[in-house]
Order: sequence, then structure tokens, then C-alpha cells
Amino acid sequence: MQLSTKVFAIAAALAAFTAPTLSAQTSAPQTAEQVYKNITELKGTPADQLGPAMNFISSSLGVECNFCHVQGKMDADDKPAKKTAREMIAMTNEINKSAFKGQRQVTCYSCHNGKGHPASMPPVMESDAAPKPPAPPAPAAGSAPAAPTAPTADQIVEKYVAALGGADALKKVTSRSMQGMIVTNGNESAIELLAKAPNKRISISKMGTGESMTAFDGTAGWMGSTGRPARAMSETESDAAGLDAEFALALRLKELFPQLRRGRPDTINGTAVEVLTGMRQGKPPVRLYFDQNTGLLLRMVRYAETSMGRMPTQIDYADYRTVDGIKVACKWTLSRPNGRFTIQIKDVKQNVAIDDAKFAKQ
Ligand code: HEC
Ligand code: HEC
Repeated sequence: MQLSTKVFAIAAALAAFTAPTLSAQTSAPQTAEQVYKNITELKGTPADQLGPAMNFISSSLGVECNFCHVQGKMDADDKPAKKTAREMIAMTNEINKSAFKGQRQVTCYSCHNGKGHPASMPPVMESDAAPKPPAPPAPAAGSAPAAPTAPTADQIVEKYVAALGGADALKKVTSRSMQGMIVTNGNESAIELLAKAPNKRISISKMGTGESMTAFDGTAGWMGSTGRPARAMSETESDAAGLDAEFALALRLKELFPQLRRGRPDTINGTAVEVLTGMRQGKPPVRLYFDQNTGLLLRMVRYAETSMGRMPTQIDYADYRTVDGIKVACKWTLSRPNGRFTIQIKDVKQNVAIDDAKFAKQ
């Protein structure tokens, strides 16, 4: 694979749509119709929201951009599907307005379910139904089953902090350098991650002589790759990168999420988990899944708001290793509707000196 394609493959896994670099960094955000040529339905949408909306539509229908667009002529209306999509946007808005008090309950995915043509009939049964499990024996009269006391949200957070090694040990570590591999669609590349408390982080994936970077400088996120100017992340991307950059997330959970609610316990691959939903003012919720047994964080699901609906990002954490008295997740998989990659760390060094300039937009 050529270098440029590989750089794109990884960049694409991170964000399938890359917004054009806006000409001037003005204070008032530009709207889609100010930046793009042929916008009728998405008028008033911030320009940096057009890309996420397109990704949402593509994922909802399970199609590529060329289902509706002619490559290189995104503004052209040559494909009937693009025209239909416009009518569909209007129809979806209308359904939500008339049937759901203007709340966005129905999205493209509600009907399309990952297909260009929504099914209008329930399918026939493809195999015999599994036998019903036997009913649990009725409890003997008088002996009420001992209900395990459910932990509170605070207790779940406390258990997580303790599982990582405790607050004191966590506070003693203030920087981390990690070396490993990133695997995207079976392609492996070397990756280096540098992180510094409270919330600076950069990941640099390397292919040949090229590098691709995703960073959060403590205030804002940016992305870059060799030979191209770095671009500032949109507010939504930056918010997500900021969460990933939290150096000691366990100690900051209660501060980051003024409301932290315990949900119904669940299972992940057979492991029983406690679920917390973190709420913040004006932002979509973040869900956190903790191993009921070990207390460690196994999964985070966050959502990016687009004008068409929410796009989920799921991060699964694994391979927790003890380094300098604290547990560090050395493997994680980031999955989105339109892409997925796994990072496997081989080497971790902590409390190393890292120049702040490393995190600054290049
Ligand atoms: C199901 C159809 C559909 C798919 C799939 C789709 N788009 Fe679009 N796209 C549209 C429609 C419809 C518009 C016009 C929206 C409007 O009129 O407000 C549009 C507009 C655009 C524009 C603005 C062009 C201009 O200058 O006016 C860009 C850029 C774009 N899409 C990129 C993409 C990319 C990249 C993908 C793949 C990730 C994609 N689209 C997938 C239907 C689609
Ligand atoms: C209420 C259900 C519903 C919703 C919501 C919905 N669609 Fe559709 N869509 C349909 C149906 C039904 C068809 C017709 C399928 C067929 O002809 O087989 C269709 C067809 C389409 C087609 C034409 C497919 C082709 O092969 O040409 C496109 C493109 C499309 N929808 C895009 C969208 C987009 C984008 C959204 C979200 C803004 C959306 N739809 C939301 C039900 C829906």
C-alpha cells in the first residue's frame, strides 16, 4: 500500500469526512451554505457540521458517498439518490415536528437500518426458535431472596479509583509515554502516544517517513499529517479528544459530569458490568461501563451530535497492566459506524519529561 493511501486509511478511520480548511477563523461560525455551493435542506447548519451529517447519512443507509455523489463534484445534483435524500431530510424533519413535538426521535437510521431500501415487512423465521430456558425454581415460602445491595454511582467511581491503585498513587503519575501498534482494517502501523496531566495528549502514527497526528493541547484539539497543514478540530471532535486526554479520568469523573447516574447493570461479552451515565450541560451523555468484579472501566460510549442524529463512538479498554503502582489500559478499540481501529501498547514509561510544545498545533 502506498504511503498516501495508508495515511488516508487511518485518517479515514478517525473521521471519514474531513471538512475543508475554512478560509478565515472568524468569530461567527460559518453556515453550510456560506462554505458549500449547493445547499438547500441544511441551510443554517454550521459548516463544520456538514461532514458529520454526511457520515451519519452514509452510515444510516450503509452506503458510500458515491451512492449520492459523483466523486469530485459534490455540489452536482446528477444522482437521483441525492434528490431523494433531500426529500427524505425534509420528510424526517416533518415527522419529528408533527409526531414528536419537534424532538429528533426519528432519524434516517430508524427506517433504513443500514440499508438503502428500508424493509417494509417483518422477515420470516430463518431457523427453529431456541428452547425456552426452564423457569427458575420458586423461592421457598418465607425466605425472601437476599437482594444484593446495588452500589451507588459514587461507590462505582470509588471502586474504579481503588482498582486503578488509589487516588494517591494516581496523583503521583503526571506524564506517560507509550509505544505500540495501531491496527486498522488489518494494516499495522507504529504509534506513539504522549500524555501529560491534567489533559494534554498527542498520538502520532507512523508509516514510512510520514506521520499522522491527533492531539489535544489542553484547550483544543487538532489533527495533522506530514505534508499537510494541521487543522483545528470542530467543537464536537475537540470535546471528544479532550475527554480522551483526561490524564486521570477516574479522579475527574465527578467534576466533568455534574450528574452521574447509575443505569441498569448489563453484560459485555459475558462480564457483568455496572453502567453510569454522565450528563453535562448542553452536551450528549457519555456512558461508562465498569467490570462489576474488578471495578475497572471496560467501555466508554460517547455521542457526537449531528444535524441528522447522534453518531456513537465506543471505546473498549483491555489489557490493564500495573506500571509504577497504577493500572494502565494497554489495549483499546475505538469503534464507530464508519470505522474501527485497535491500539496495542507494548511499552509504557511514566513521569518522563515531555515538553509542552509537543502538544501545540503545528
Ligand atoms: C444518501 C445520499 C447522500 C450520501 C450517501 C452522502 N451525501 Fe453528501 N449530500 C447529500 C445531499 C442531499 C446534499 C445537499 C444537502 C442540502 O441541500 O442541504 C449533500 C451535500 C454534500 C456536500 C456539499 C456540496 C456542495 O458544495 O454543495 C458535500 C461536500 C457532501 N455532501 C459530501 C459528502 C460526503 C463526503 C459523503 C460521504 C461521507 C456524502 N456526502 C454522502 C446526500 C448525500
Ligand atoms: C419514515 C421512514 C424513512 C425515514 C425516516 C427515511 N427514509 Fe429514506 N426511504 C424510505 C423509504 C420507504 C424509501 C423507499 C425505498 C424503496 O424505494 O425501496 C426510502 C428511500 C430513500 C432513498 C432512495 C434509495 C435509492 O435506492 O435510490 C434515499 C437516498 C433515502 N431514502 C435517504 C434517506 C435519508 C438521507 C434519510 C434521513 C434524512 C431518510 N432516507 C429517512 C423511508 C425512510
